[in-house]
Amino acid sequence: MMTASEIRRQFLDFFEQKGHKIVPSVPIVVKNDPTLLFINAGMNPFKDIFLGNAPAQYSRIADTQKCLRVSGKHNDLEEVGVDTYHHTMFEMLGNWSFGDYFKEEAISYAWELLTEVYKLPKDRLYVTIFEGDAKENLAKDEESKEIWKKYIAEDRILLGNKKDNFWEMGDVGPCGPCTEIHFDSRNDAERARIDGKTLVNGDDPNVIEIWNNVFMEFNRKADKSLEHLPNKHVDTGMGFERLVRIIQSKTSNYDTDIFMPIIESVEKMCGKKYGFSDTKSDIAFRVIADHIRAISFTIADGQIPSNTGAGYVIRRILRRAVRYGYSFLDFQTPFMHQLVSLLANQFSDVFPELTAQKDYLSQVIREEENSFFATLSKGIKIFNDLTANHEKSISGKDAFTLYDTYGFPFDLTQLMAQEAGIMVDEAAFEKELQIQKDRSKNATKLETEDWEIINPELDGKATQFIGYTDFESNASIVKIRKVVAKNQSFYQIVLDKTPFYAESGGQVGDSGELILGNQKIYIYNTVKENDTIFHLTKEIEIADLKENFTAQINKTKRSLTTKNHSATHLLQASLRNVLGAHVEQKGSLVNEKLLRFDFSHFAKLTDEEIQKLESMVNAKIQAQIDLKEEQNIPIDEAKSRGVMALFGEKYGEFVRVITFDAAFSQELCGGTHVKNTGEIEYFKIISESSISAGVRRIEAITSQAVLEFYQGKEAQLEEIALAMKNPQKLLPAIQNLMQETAQQRKTIEQYEKYIVNAEVQKISSSLSTPMGAMISLGDFSSEIVKNIATQLRSKHNDVAIALVYEEKEKMKVAIAISDAIQSSESLMANQIAKELGQAFHGGGGGQPSFSVVTLEMSTSKEALSKKWLELVQK
Ligand code: SER
Repeated sequence: MMTASEIRRQFLDFFEQKGHKIVPSVPIVVKNDPTLLFINAGMNPFKDIFLGNAPAQYSRIADTQKCLRVSGKHNDLEEVGVDTYHHTMFEMLGNWSFGDYFKEEAISYAWELLTEVYKLPKDRLYVTIFEGDAKENLAKDEESKEIWKKYIAEDRILLGNKKDNFWEMGDVGPCGPCTEIHFDSRNDAERARIDGKTLVNGDDPNVIEIWNNVFMEFNRKADKSLEHLPNKHVDTGMGFERLVRIIQSKTSNYDTDIFMPIIESVEKMCGKKYGFSDTKSDIAFRVIADHIRAISFTIADGQIPSNTGAGYVIRRILRRAVRYGYSFLDFQTPFMHQLVSLLANQFSDVFPELTAQKDYLSQVIREEENSFFATLSKGIKIFNDLTANHEKSISGKDAFTLYDTYGFPFDLTQLMAQEAGIMVDEAAFEKELQIQKDRSKNATKLETEDWEIINPELDGKATQFIGYTDFESNASIVKIRKVVAKNQSFYQIVLDKTPFYAESGGQVGDSGELILGNQKIYIYNTVKENDTIFHLTKEIEIADLKENFTAQINKTKRSLTTKNHSATHLLQASLRNVLGAHVEQKGSLVNEKLLRFDFSHFAKLTDEEIQKLESMVNAKIQAQIDLKEEQNIPIDEAKSRGVMALFGEKYGEFVRVITFDAAFSQELCGGTHVKNTGEIEYFKIISESSISAGVRRIEAITSQAVLEFYQGKEAQLEEIALAMKNPQKLLPAIQNLMQETAQQRKTIEQYEKYIVNAEVQKISSSLSTPMGAMISLGDFSSEIVKNIATQLRSKHNDVAIALVYEEKEKMKVAIAISDAIQSSESLMANQIAKELGQAFHGGGGGQPSFSVVTLEMSTSKEALSKKWLELVQK
């Protein structure tokens, strides 16, 4: 049997022989595109090439791309595990032509690979072509049909509608008609009984699409119209897991050597058997085998599970798996993290990012599991309270609270309700869910208008970034568009060339101005969407945008940011020196105020480690090391030189290497840097904390900010010295003061004891009627009164006494009742306190033996005494 690894290899080899450049998968977590959280199709990384915004380095490429379809337009989550051929994370094998070959070659390559290399039986294959769409004014794809006729019988070429055979990336963006290849894996008897072509695109688990060839010709605009792309391209996507399944003659993707090792491992862990069926426990096996991949790959690419955005999606996937394991495989404690090692080994040749971060991944996953198990048990308690009160059903609102506040999945609520013999109002739950979805959709809604092209002759070329060397340049506006987000609008401006650095690699975007004579457009930020640089502004009041502008950045902000960025490199290298080579960057922020660096490490940093880090970075600053900046280094060369690269970062084939002392710090980086480390001046760590399991965060400052930091500390010291009346030596003066205070506290305690004893004696000797005495003490602290009461209670086993005193302008009544009286007379101090409070508009409470009521000073003592007697002698 051909293994999955061999099948993947053959795909890439085949296209390499056909002149394709094989490129690595980009990270599954998307950083520079607000329209996507995760890569959901092999073509995402090439969107700008299709649209003509960026040039293609190679006209033919092929790859296997990690994809995740759990949010947005392409969302398969609910199917996963329930059926046998959808996945959260999957590999998409793809070949691309950027303005090179089109339908003829694409179809012939696909056919050759499937039938001659993989030797799939031709009589099990069907193809579909686009039937056209009158409303969109799109013609039937006759050309593809004619080409297919050379390879496959005409009655196996089926027509497909816009939904199935016109592929669109999202609401806007590149799109085009597609031709799909389907495979019929039913047995001969079934095939004889029902003609396979009637089952194509009919959700039959055994007649499935394996390969989609999209002919990218159009761009879907925001106004919904289609425009022709500058060139015609091919985008193909073949689901790797499905391909392996049919080559390995299995009826489910999960039965292949991609998933079975994980399923077998889960079998061992839970002591149950996978039954190759549709039972809940089999679904659980599949859900776990699928989800561990999605979770591991996304965390490895830098996404930590969290409460928002992409992190929340990961958290939900993990919870879905844990819940299935808990409900149907009887897992009571974390188990998912134990699968990481196996998964990492399985992918070590294609996706080494798992092996390299094995321990980190399993720690993060275990922590997530731990907290979800805790949430589950909290949820179960709430559920039990609910069912105790709801006799017949659980309301949609309650089910939603369980879901939303306690992370308690709806089907678990439903399952437990079933077991308890009650109903859950599903429709009402769905309604609540929809309200929440709409709310969050509106909060993140982004309406983008179509581009207004200002200088058409400049359109279609990538913006030239000159900001490594220049802070100012002349520039022309290529195009502008308006974006409305959260009811606020702004404009994105694309220039032909720019000194503005666009936010990336943790470094904030530049701000500045576009100047035309005495008119200005204020740029408040610069961001990137894939490779296009957007200058953001709130207002454009200039009429003639076609003119040549001067683009000028805020130099102070840039210079401070640059120092912080270079210091981040020195810090990262120092961390690896001081803590060890396991330190991996897990996030960073560099702005004009500070640098923030997140990294994998398993313990809190000691004071000594922090000092070592500060000394090491400052030593490198003092050594005045020159920057070595290398552009266009082949990525393989950089990696073999040991240059630090990040997991989860998308690198091109040629990279920029930033070096400060080759033996110390070499990083792949697109950010801006000081020419010499001396420019950083000083470095100081201002905080160290944990942000999640296995990830620590350091915040630090450089240059003038360090001076200001110490000036602030000095001012604080001066204030303290002033408060201490400027002693010659501050520390001994403070120590003396503390000693003195401790001594005085002791003396006060002694006096208090003396006072308490004297009072107790005085009261005891005057007590003729311990039952019901009310004694006025005068000005006393509650603490002393409590001590007096305690002693009275221990001296006399027959007291029920009220001590009236004054504290902080209030009248207070302390009631002490000895244990014997509490039971013989049924008198409780807290009960009496409550009643006195009610009678005299006060409040208070305490224990049956001792309680205090607080009253206004104006309260009549006579009335109080009368009421007290009434209550005691009742
Ligand atoms: N973009 C197409 C798809 O995702 C083909 O790669 O199916």
